[in-house]
Amino acid sequence: MPNASDDLFTREDPIFANKELLEINHLPGEGRIVGRDDEISDLATAVNPAIFGQSPSNVLIYGKTGTGKSLCAKYVSQRLVETAEEEGVKATFAYVDCAQDTTETQAVQTIADSVNDTAITGIKVPDKGLSTSTYYKRLWRILDSLYDVVLIILDEIDKLSDDDILMQLSRAGEAGKIAGCKLGVIGISNKIQYKDRMDERVKSSLCEREFVFPPYDANQLRDIMDARSDAFRDGVLDPSTIPRAAALAAREHGDARKAIDILRYAGEIAQSMGASTVRENFVTQARQRAETDRFRELIRGSTPHSRYVLQALAILSLSNQQQDGFRTSRVYEVYENICRQQGSDSLSLRRVRDLLKEHAFLDIIEQSKHSGGSAEGSYTKHQLLEDPDVVKDVLTENADT
Ligand SMILES: Nc1ncnc2c1ncn2[C@@H]1O[C@H](COP(=O)(O)OP(=O)(O)OP(=O)(O)O)[C@@H](O)[C@H]1O
Ligand SMILES: [Mg+2]
Repeated sequence: MPNASDDLFTREDPIFANKELLEINHLPGEGRIVGRDDEISDLATAVNPAIFGQSPSNVLIYGKTGTGKSLCAKYVSQRLVETAEEEGVKATFAYVDCAQDTTETQAVQTIADSVNDTAITGIKVPDKGLSTSTYYKRLWRILDSLYDVVLIILDEIDKLSDDDILMQLSRAGEAGKIAGCKLGVIGISNKIQYKDRMDERVKSSLCEREFVFPPYDANQLRDIMDARSDAFRDGVLDPSTIPRAAALAAREHGDARKAIDILRYAGEIAQSMGASTVRENFVTQARQRAETDRFRELIRGSTPHSRYVLQALAILSLSNQQQDGFRTSRVYEVYENICRQQGSDSLSLRRVRDLLKEHAFLDIIEQSKHSGGSAEGSYTKHQLLEDPDVVKDVLTENADT
């Protein structure tokens, strides 16, 4: 039996010095934002007039997942507020995650609540219970009594259930809803087609400036990871580990979130194996885990049938590796088999088509239209964008629980 002086526990983490730097919600400081100088300066130019008391341009930012959109929008907004303050301009910004606040009422409530200071305005913004128009009235009063200029970041803007809030915000000044305060909207989306769905009037006022954030290349991902390598203890990271992780992540998505996840997992693998260094070969395993996480997150909360449909596509992809996509009828056959195995009634072909569409919307699969000539008419093909092995693993692990 160990006595009290024995070290039963390790007192210091042998791998990580400051693991927070690699956690999902960590907001990196200025020196750690790498490879987005042009995007940051373009954004700053668009909102710059705010500092002279003029209206900032409304901006729409597009880009695939993990390209730094949310990060840069928050960073520029924060800097604008600081600079405005130095100029004696009262400014603030509000951040809305539209995936969470999907309705107009929820979004206005969040904005009003986050910019409000009840002690000064005497205005209350309850979590719920007011009509949408009352929330708006309170928001306009708060803005006019506290600020010269306000930026509103609408992140994941495509998740909003309709355009109404965009109309209200983009026209608030013109419509005389607010008198002194200038408003700028920064919309963010990873759906490049999003704008096509927008009402023409909203489009013209909301899309004064548009920016597309490209995926990161291997060098940029490497710089991003290098800038956080002090998450690890000195000498723990093998010199080839980051370059390898960067190469892998760049080849797949150019997604910084995934690159950082890979690095964190590689460290955890080293930890669990009791290894003293984070070696390059841990990266392969870490990559698989990061990919699995990403997919698990994407399908969280989906129904059994929605999963069977994906499982069908994974089975088809694994047994026909050369083929780039499968027709709806093929997918449906395999789906029906899965339902039989599961002892569950299959849904109609039409419902399955809808489920496939939902997966396409999340970029889990890709749909392409083909013309089969006059005899056949046109048809759709579906292809998995995720690694079919990952899809199969995650779906079977779900079936067990
Ligand atoms: N240029 C960068 N420098 C340092 N870290 C970055 C950079 N770009 C992204 N990151 C980090 O990568 C992760 C993802 O970035 P961010 O959340 O901004 O992506 P996004 O484009 O908003 O993705 P999504 O569309 O999925 O919301 C964050 O943890 C962020 O800190
Ligand atoms: Mg984001």
